[in-house]
Amino acid sequence: LNNGLAQTPQMGWNSWNFFACNINETVIKETADELISTGLAELGYVYVNIDDCWSSPSRSLQGSLVPDPETFPSGIKSLADYIHEKGLKLGIYSDAGVFTCQVRPGSLFHESADAELFASWGVDYLKYDNCYNLGIKPEKRYPPMRDALNATGHTIFYSLCEWGVDDPALWAGGVGNSWRTTDDINDSWASMTTIADLNDKWAAYAGPGGWNDPDMLEVGNGGMTYQEYRAHFSIWALMKAPLLIGCDVRNMTAETLEILSNKEVIAVNQDPLGVQGRKVYAEGKDNCKQVWAGPLSGNRLVVAFWNRCSKAVTITAKWEALGLDPTISVSVRDIWKHEDMPEDALTSFSTQVDSHDCKMYIFTPQMAYQFAV
Ligand code: DGJ
Repeated sequence: LNNGLAQTPQMGWNSWNFFACNINETVIKETADELISTGLAELGYVYVNIDDCWSSPSRSLQGSLVPDPETFPSGIKSLADYIHEKGLKLGIYSDAGVFTCQVRPGSLFHESADAELFASWGVDYLKYDNCYNLGIKPEKRYPPMRDALNATGHTIFYSLCEWGVDDPALWAGGVGNSWRTTDDINDSWASMTTIADLNDKWAAYAGPGGWNDPDMLEVGNGGMTYQEYRAHFSIWALMKAPLLIGCDVRNMTAETLEILSNKEVIAVNQDPLGVQGRKVYAEGKDNCKQVWAGPLSGNRLVVAFWNRCSKAVTITAKWEALGLDPTISVSVRDIWKHEDMPEDALTSFSTQVDSHDCKMYIFTPQMAYQFAV
């Protein structure tokens, strides 16, 4: 969507994956505080996004959405002020249907009034869900909210959450700043790998202004190992996915913070070229030895070696699979270890990877190249 936002994928935090409906204004404020004190905000995680369950079960007599008086007694405007004072941005949630998924009022047929209200509160971001949609196609239900947000005169990030219905990559480029390509993620290896593969299909449609959204991060929620979370974060960064933290940042382990804070991996996600990396090569049983890659600015490539096998394996990227001329020598930097390889690589690069782990490198070819896959 051409509203000036999302030149790189959005970064921040969202309440749903960890808290679901157990949210309140204290949790949101403490999360904002913690994003600052951990240094995550400074690394780019600036959106603090409230998901479903912030609103009362019914509209006011005048027809407005009302924050739940029990859990958000100070209202959303005051929360937005708090968040803005810290230099962060506030996201809110509604639904392109008659109810949200947790049966709070939806915004279908209330687009203008609700957009005006969000703008008056100082909201910076809207996630727009897909429940109770009366069977109307998303292509019809999502543009009215885009127009309503635009008409407020405030620039508001518009995140479509249509769960991949009707292949949004094909129609959402002019509608939203990101669109979900799949159903909900859950905190498991099976879910994360399935979603990565589904999202990969739409790589060609992502770019500055509009990104494929394979759903929010589960890093730190406990259902995957350190290696699996590192793979999750690596592949989401490489796929130019939104980096929306989904854990309780007030109670993170050092390992979780280390993964989420990796500057070099974040820089891959936020690279100004804005091209979604792809699975370029897979071999072995169930194609479990995988190479994912994509071009970066400055004539560089990001190359991830993802071991989806049940034991440690060696994975090789041949230059031809990356579209590199075999005669080009390449300098290689490990961006998890923050280490340059001692020698340039020629023809191919191989590395041993633990089960379910992912190694990630920046390749700098010593000659201009064309990413060909
Ligand atoms: C479905 C969405 O896909 C989730 O991300 C979350 O927003 C829930 N609805 C909330 O009910």
